[in-house]
Amino acid sequence: MLKTVLTLPGQLLEAWERALAAPLPRPEVPPSHIVAVGMGGSAIAADLIGAYLAPRLALPLVTIRDARLPAYVGRGSVVIATSYSGETDETLAAAEAAVASGAHVVAVTSGGRLAALAAGRTLLRVRGGLPPRAALAYLLAPTLAVFEKWGVAGSCAADVDEAVGVLRVIATETGPDVPLTRNPAKQLAEALRDVVPAVYAGTPGLAPVARRWKTQFNENSKTLATWDTFPELTHNEVVGWGAPADLACRVAAVILLGGDEDAQALRRIGASRSAAIDRAAASVHEVRGRGTGRLARMLSLVFLGDLTSVYLAYLRGVDPTPVEAIDRIKQAVRAAS
Ligand code: PA5
Repeated sequence: MLKTVLTLPGQLLEAWERALAAPLPRPEVPPSHIVAVGMGGSAIAADLIGAYLAPRLALPLVTIRDARLPAYVGRGSVVIATSYSGETDETLAAAEAAVASGAHVVAVTSGGRLAALAAGRTLLRVRGGLPPRAALAYLLAPTLAVFEKWGVAGSCAADVDEAVGVLRVIATETGPDVPLTRNPAKQLAEALRDVVPAVYAGTPGLAPVARRWKTQFNENSKTLATWDTFPELTHNEVVGWGAPADLACRVAAVILLGGDEDAQALRRIGASRSAAIDRAAASVHEVRGRGTGRLARMLSLVFLGDLTSVYLAYLRGVDPTPVEAIDRIKQAVRAAS
């Protein structure tokens, strides 16, 4: 897992170039919206793209983590179904419903039944053999390439280039050979060793990044974790830090900052720390994104979170790769249906 995570920069470049070279025909009917369907490690790719492109996306993009589609999906819709395995029941059902509705369907997968369902439609087949969450670049780049080619959000090429460069620098600073004293991912993992991480996005634009941190702690580190977003959490979650001291002191806050927060956002974070979080939490960590572009800042945070979750797994003596509970649930549901 550590090796795969560390190759994120190269994966992103490879996946982007490959996706751009694929035929990506435009829908016959100009779309009024884009619906991304997927679950877990496959769904987060669309969330990240939606947050990255939000300031310039010409159409609404919503992520649906469900087998059922909203009633508005039909001929004017583009549905991008992403499932790394191509075998996820919810995603397959949603993709089938999308085909039946007359929507323009694009499938992103390494194979399975989703690839079969997409025959004769737009199929972006990605490299297989990885755990879905470790294939983030392969799942993210195709959708980005679709948007690039259809011109719905301007060009992303310079942002992807910058992100690859920033990720390469981070890889040299956080690899296994870099000792704890100079390695921010190892340091954070050490601080989170015996606590539940509560990951907070400093702005709503970083919400999918916070969610990714949480799910990587769940799946790689095999631990509970929570996530929330400023400013919403200043209207509810902050009160929760008033929990009994012996409970709150088992939770550490990790605040993700993109570097483009305005003064009001920073004031709100500071006020929340002094009013509620700092005195109750096991520890509080502010983590900053790197780079100047929105994509680099988001993916640099994702990368640091992924690495931290793997180091935390090693500190806790667990194997980051298997996700037995997920596999057992999928099998049980399939056997019963
Ligand atoms: O990380 C994981 O393994 C899960 O969250 C999967 O991504 C999720 O179960 C969906 O599977 P797939 O990505 O193959 O559609």
